Amino acid sequence: MNSVDSIYFHFPYCKHLCNYCDFFKYKLKNADQITNYHRYLEMSWPVQLELLNGYDYQFAPKMQTLYWGGGTPSLWGKRGAEFFREFYSQYFQLAQGAEFTVELDPGAWDEQGFDAFLSIGVNRFSVGIQCLDPDILPFVDRSHTYQESLETLQMMQRWGGNFSVDLMLGLAHPAQLTRNLKKELDQILSFDPQHISLYILSTRKNYPLYDLLPVDEYSAEEYLQVHQQLEKAGFVHYEVSNYARPGYQSVHNKKYWQQKAVAAFGPTASGFLPLASGGGLRYQWKVSAAEIKEELLDSEQMKLESLYLTLRQAEKFNPRQIAYLRENEHIFAGWIEAGHVKKEGNLYQMSPEGWLVMDSLVGQVL
Ligand SMILES: C[S@@+](CC[C@H](N)C(=O)[O-])C[C@H]1O[C@@H](n2cnc3c(N)ncnc32)[C@H](O)[C@@H]1O
Ligand code: SF4
Repeated sequence: MNSVDSIYFHFPYCKHLCNYCDFFKYKLKNADQITNYHRYLEMSWPVQLELLNGYDYQFAPKMQTLYWGGGTPSLWGKRGAEFFREFYSQYFQLAQGAEFTVELDPGAWDEQGFDAFLSIGVNRFSVGIQCLDPDILPFVDRSHTYQESLETLQMMQRWGGNFSVDLMLGLAHPAQLTRNLKKELDQILSFDPQHISLYILSTRKNYPLYDLLPVDEYSAEEYLQVHQQLEKAGFVHYEVSNYARPGYQSVHNKKYWQQKAVAAFGPTASGFLPLASGGGLRYQWKVSAAEIKEELLDSEQMKLESLYLTLRQAEKFNPRQIAYLRENEHIFAGWIEAGHVKKEGNLYQMSPEGWLVMDSLVGQVL
């Protein structure tokens, strides 16, 4: 029997629904919604167990990583922490040194909830700052103010633990305003985060910000500028959108990038199980009931995903060991010349310039 020691929980409520966001969420209006959510999670456990057992998996007695994403799970607060403690004490424990992350948004948490999160073992926060420019923030459609962002960062610094900051690039704003990203990042770094995640804003047609988005070259310039600044500040750009101080890479997210087993709970949450056949099972929770949709990936689909996952990480790779690259090694001379990869001995490593054109690189080897 294989075991799963990582779980993602999707908390599907937010204070405000940002006009660019396609993640599954409702506006949080009353406590009954949380009661219903708890019921959904309780009904999910036997369904999940049956699925795992059917694919020769079981839950490990001790979890290595837990991740509450959303939505805005910091709104789950003290009540959520109490529910969660009871929920998981029935089924598993946290392993020594486990990583337990909660996404927390400025203006969407309180002290009581924060203390309760710590009391159940949460030891990492992912903070949705997105933009720390008080003039530009109002155009991003966030619910929080600049002041609330500062208060949240101050609280994180006082706590002194492991936290990450989400920052958005390619923001839409009036032409007369100039975003001083360097200044924003300097200010964020003054609070000592150990990790930064970048998101280039994208929206679909008919979304309010769609026609206001800057051209791709503008976002690319911001992306390269952030790379230079963060590397200078001692961060490692370890994945296309993620930076960490040494020792602080996200253990949970690396499980996805390495095609390892991660279970999931909550409406639309998606889990993954690698299978002995070389294929994999991706599954997703339905919204209407605590039921699961399954999607089997064959070994060819797994290889294709592995190609994307290899190229999005900074870890050096040997193309001879990777499907689609091994037949195309001749292409690498061009990639080196264009600065998309660097070569050391038999190994290659993606560069930030390469990450900006990753889809086109994949297109060349398929
Ligand atoms: C779904 S949110 C959940 C965490 C939290 N509620 C927040 O907003 O930070 C996770 C990340 O996705 C990003 N995101 C959501 N929609 C996006 C979009 N259309 N383009 C780029 N990033 C997006 C958010 O900015 C956030 O950093
Ligand atoms: S707060 Fe986060 S999850 Fe909620 S709508 Fe905004 S971006 Fe989406």
